[in-house]
Amino acid sequence: MTASKPLAATPPMGWNSWNMFGSAVNEAAIRETADAIVASDLKACGYEYIVIDDCWSKKVGRDANGDLVPDPHKFPSGMKALADYVHSLGLKIGIYSDAADRTCASYPGSYGFEEQDAQLWASWGMDFLKYDYCNAPTDQMTAIDRYGRMGEALRNTGREFLFSLCEWGGRSPQLWGRNVGGHVWRVSGDVFDSWVNIWVPHGPGYYGVGIDVSLDIADNLHEYAGPGGWNDLDMLVVGLKGKGQISGGGLSFIEYQTHMSVWCMACSPLMIGCDVRALDQETAALLMNREVLAVNQDPLGKPARRVKQAGPCEVWKKPLADGSVAVALLNRGATGSDVSVRAGDIGLLDQPKLVRNLWKHEDIAEFKEELVQRVQPHETLLLRISS
Ligand code: GLA
Repeated sequence: MTASKPLAATPPMGWNSWNMFGSAVNEAAIRETADAIVASDLKACGYEYIVIDDCWSKKVGRDANGDLVPDPHKFPSGMKALADYVHSLGLKIGIYSDAADRTCASYPGSYGFEEQDAQLWASWGMDFLKYDYCNAPTDQMTAIDRYGRMGEALRNTGREFLFSLCEWGGRSPQLWGRNVGGHVWRVSGDVFDSWVNIWVPHGPGYYGVGIDVSLDIADNLHEYAGPGGWNDLDMLVVGLKGKGQISGGGLSFIEYQTHMSVWCMACSPLMIGCDVRALDQETAALLMNREVLAVNQDPLGKPARRVKQAGPCEVWKKPLADGSVAVALLNRGATGSDVSVRAGDIGLLDQPKLVRNLWKHEDIAEFKEELVQRVQPHETLLLRISS
């Protein structure tokens, strides 16, 4: 018998419905997405979980037995049939709820129904739960209690669930997420398709997080993540190009590449948010560069940290299992700049080292003491340096 891989030994990879479909999520979209994940090679690259986010159930409430009911217009074949289909493709499927009476979009939540809902999702064959925190009390103790109840309910089903906490980082889930059974915990509000934070006027009004701000969050929390428990920087906005729920106008190719580079360096889950049924070449290249994905999935599971800052330019370092290091040279400023890395900055000795550009699949240089590279505004060069 082969031992199965422990859950979330490396950051989870997959796709989530929210960014693209929002409340319009439906069975056809999920099936077509699953098909596209197989056909496009995303599956072969490791994207595995297909997660149905908010708005999947009947909004009015539970049935006479107190069960959540999938919206029959959106999911006419029901969730069990959908899960069976996704499983038949060799993929896994996830569902969403909230630790209060109502979800963020005001659909029924699971507070007080943890056991019943977990049993129902298990009976459908769900493999993943994203558990949100809208409409719940803001203090940390209540959050620990409510996530703990759901963590226990999931365990009691006897089915393996990847448990994704989504309280946006406000109650320091990096400190207690593992204890409540969590495998990933969001560390920010919703990331928008924007370089800077943007004000989102609808609903109660809130700030959408820009990629530039996520970089600092990732650096601040790097020490808390590792195999089995990861800082979740939120779903990817790669490929949205201004479409979907969280439009901030879209990013340039270079900015999407920086976004992907940092999510990989930080060991964030990689949950695609764009419409994979219509993948353009640029987006496919960003999502399926195996050398870049290998940085995210490296078995050592050590998130990157910033080791050097010079004005708007930064150097980040991530140790890898084979003794080499992944190094990101980032330029957050508005003009192109030469960025220098000295061997000591990345903890390497002054001996010859080979530098590979991972996005380009090219060995670019050898250096002993100092490497200097030109980095364009908002660009990240992602390198692997080995002695
Ligand atoms: C919150 C979460 C998002 C998404 C929406 C759904 O905003 O942070 O990721 O799940 O709710 O309503």
